[in-house]
Amino acid sequence: MLIKNTKNHPNYNCPETEVMSEQAYLNRRSFLKASSLAIAGASVSSYAEKASQYSTDEKLTSEYTVTHYNNFYEFALGKEGPAKLAENFQPLPWQVAIEGEVEKPIVLNFEDILKATTGLERIYRLRCVEAWSMVIPWQGFELRELLKLARPTSKAKYVMFETLYDPKRFPGQKRGALGFFSLDWPYVEGLRMDEAMHPLTILATGVFGKSLPGQNGAPLRLVVPWKYGFKSIKSIAKIKLVENQPINTWQKSAPNEYGFYANVNPKVSHPRWSQARERRIYDESLFGTKRIDTQMFNGYGDLVADMYRDMDLTRQF
Ligand code: MTE
Repeated sequence: MLIKNTKNHPNYNCPETEVMSEQAYLNRRSFLKASSLAIAGASVSSYAEKASQYSTDEKLTSEYTVTHYNNFYEFALGKEGPAKLAENFQPLPWQVAIEGEVEKPIVLNFEDILKATTGLERIYRLRCVEAWSMVIPWQGFELRELLKLARPTSKAKYVMFETLYDPKRFPGQKRGALGFFSLDWPYVEGLRMDEAMHPLTILATGVFGKSLPGQNGAPLRLVVPWKYGFKSIKSIAKIKLVENQPINTWQKSAPNEYGFYANVNPKVSHPRWSQARERRIYDESLFGTKRIDTQMFNGYGDLVADMYRDMDLTRQF
């Protein structure tokens, strides 16, 4: 995310504790279940072979770049800060509350969430509102599976997500930690119910077949591939089903620049730059990026455009 007026290993770096090894085990187990690749350490080419309606076979961004070029303000403002500051991040124990317009409010431990859902693997394009993009192999499960456990009522029209508020674990949440810049913590995001129940919408618990590193949103984060990256909220602790459209963090911070929907749209410019093209990042090398045209709904239009058929996407951006 670009901010106004500011100057603006790959492996999970965890101590050998019981808890962490269980997380790694569960994550690995759901990954293997999803990919039916009964091999240790699936190679990059094994990801790339599995194109489907939901997974692309485009060239992947390198694992190093995906885990070292991040936006995660709960750690730092710059792209390299999150990986450094999250090095010793301890995601477990972790709980997620599902509440609001549901018949059965629940609080689940991370391990129970993995046990209650079906592991899958998806290779998605991630298009940031800042006009860069990556291709990333995520492991996780469909959000709708988790939501159904709480039995949403007919009043549930939207889903609101919150990142954990814990300045001890997320130093960027400390007052003054980001200089004169600050966001209203916790980071909040939202989806309309049909978007949340869409099979493309996943909660990721792993990337490149390994537990999600802190900087990518451990232990679980949203991935909504047809929307700008800021919708993919990290390190989720609360999911609330609500009647009215929630106001997300970036919308609150700059309502003329960031909307609720944030569907990738090459025809609707950001007030300060065009969204017609993007810089696809493959790796950190000199020729590791390529300029390409941005696709409507980030190339997922066949699967999602119907949800917006009666809307003016220039106004509801
Ligand atoms: N979630 C939280 N809680 N805090 C953040 O700062 N940044 C968003 C999104 N999720 C962010 C967040 C933005 S702007 C982007 S582009 C993606 O995370 C980046 O995800 P990545 O670092 O895994 O590529």
